[in-house]
Amino acid sequence: MTAKILVFSGSSRPGSFNDRLAGLAARELQALGAEVTYINLGKFELPLVDATGFGNAPKAAHELRQLFDEHDGMFIASPEYNAGYAPALKNALDWATVAKPGAPATGLAGKVVALGGASPGAMGTYRGLTQLRTVLELGFGATLVPEMVAVGNAATAFSEDGKLADERTAGFFKTTLARLVSMSEKLKA
Ligand SMILES: Cc1cc2nc3c(=O)[nH]c(=O)nc-3n(C[C@H](O)[C@H](O)[C@H](O)COP(=O)(O)O)c2cc1C
Repeated sequence: MTAKILVFSGSSRPGSFNDRLAGLAARELQALGAEVTYINLGKFELPLVDATGFGNAPKAAHELRQLFDEHDGMFIASPEYNAGYAPALKNALDWATVAKPGAPATGLAGKVVALGGASPGAMGTYRGLTQLRTVLELGFGATLVPEMVAVGNAATAFSEDGKLADERTAGFFKTTLARLVSMSEKLKA
């Protein structure tokens, strides 16, 4: 059964490193046989979320939630801001639950999520990703791929063809994505 994977990054900055990582993930997931949908979160017009959104969510929130519902798994690339994950990403994830409220930790129940991130610093985005992982498990009920890919020194981490220049990191990235596909197929079956 072909896994349907949604791919996006938490940055819509032109030239975003995380968008580059998400684009690479989309290509590699396709090569692994997954059916991939790549989206730019910046195209979804979402104000800051609060409880007034219940029953009154913008069209973009419903569209995003529908995309979540239609896919078996996700690859999310998140920037790290002050040791945390991107607020735009949390805002979008929260809107998806406000658009279709349910019991706690059901927004991504039955979905498999793999995380990655890229930053110019030496440590990559690992600190932010650990927090995002907790939120996705505890708040959204998602099943997380054990591996996470934090790409440091992002300005030199990508080669001209858009791949990861470091062989070891590239191999780990592939392993992570392969696990995303196999776990998504299993959960779907
Ligand atoms: C408010 C702010 C805080 C940041 N804090 C961190 C940080 O804690 N760790 C880090 O590695 N990079 C940090 N950065 C740098 C980002 O990693 C860098 O801007 C990166 O390019 C953002 O991702 P993008 O290229 O996908 O937009 C920070 C940037 C901003 C704007």
